[in-house]
Amino acid sequence: MKQLLFFSNNKNKIIEIKKIFNKFDIKLLSLSDVKLTDEPEENGKSFEENAKIKSNYGFNKTGVPCFADDSGICIESLNWKPGIFSKRFLKNFQTNEDCFNRIIKNMENSGKKKAYFKTSISLTSSNNHHIIFNGKIDGKISSNIRGVFGFGYDPIFIPNNFNKTFAELSIKEKNEISHRSIAIMKLLNFVIN
Ligand code: IMP
Repeated sequence: MKQLLFFSNNKNKIIEIKKIFNKFDIKLLSLSDVKLTDEPEENGKSFEENAKIKSNYGFNKTGVPCFADDSGICIESLNWKPGIFSKRFLKNFQTNEDCFNRIIKNMENSGKKKAYFKTSISLTSSNNHHIIFNGKIDGKISSNIRGVFGFGYDPIFIPNNFNKTFAELSIKEKNEISHRSIAIMKLLNFVIN
């Protein structure tokens, strides 16, 4: 059976990705399986660059084919930021709710509602050779904070053609449409074929 290392410490991402991998004959290894505790600095200028930094690091440290994802939300009323700074942007506020309320206020004041999530996955299976798989989902910012599932910005993102936020969808429902699952399916199709 083929095995792949997923370079991430984000428990929620790991849960989402494990659910997708369960359906395929590929063993998914985590950083704790290979006892890797250190991580590289994510100083890339795009989702793709940051994903590459992580997958290359994981492959070089372990010799196991490694993939990493870098993802985030891009919000129209914030000039399509925070993007690659999504994690840091959230941490600038005392609570997630404070951050969400600021985003909602900006959205209402500007009338700009659009947003999208993007994921770039990089797969490294030989030194300095990376393959990139992208996934994107378009939607809008909710006018209130809703839902208890998921993580990060899920409670304020409503995907197009839905009237629920990502945080009101189960993992299974989110995985049917999310940016991350789109990119993961492209990766799996590549690895299997
Ligand atoms: P990183 O890819 O681990 O650097 O994290 C990017 C950040 O973007 C996360 O910490 C979340 O705040 C946000 N993010 C990425 N994907 C999702 C998602 O599927 N739902 C909600 N927030 C997300």
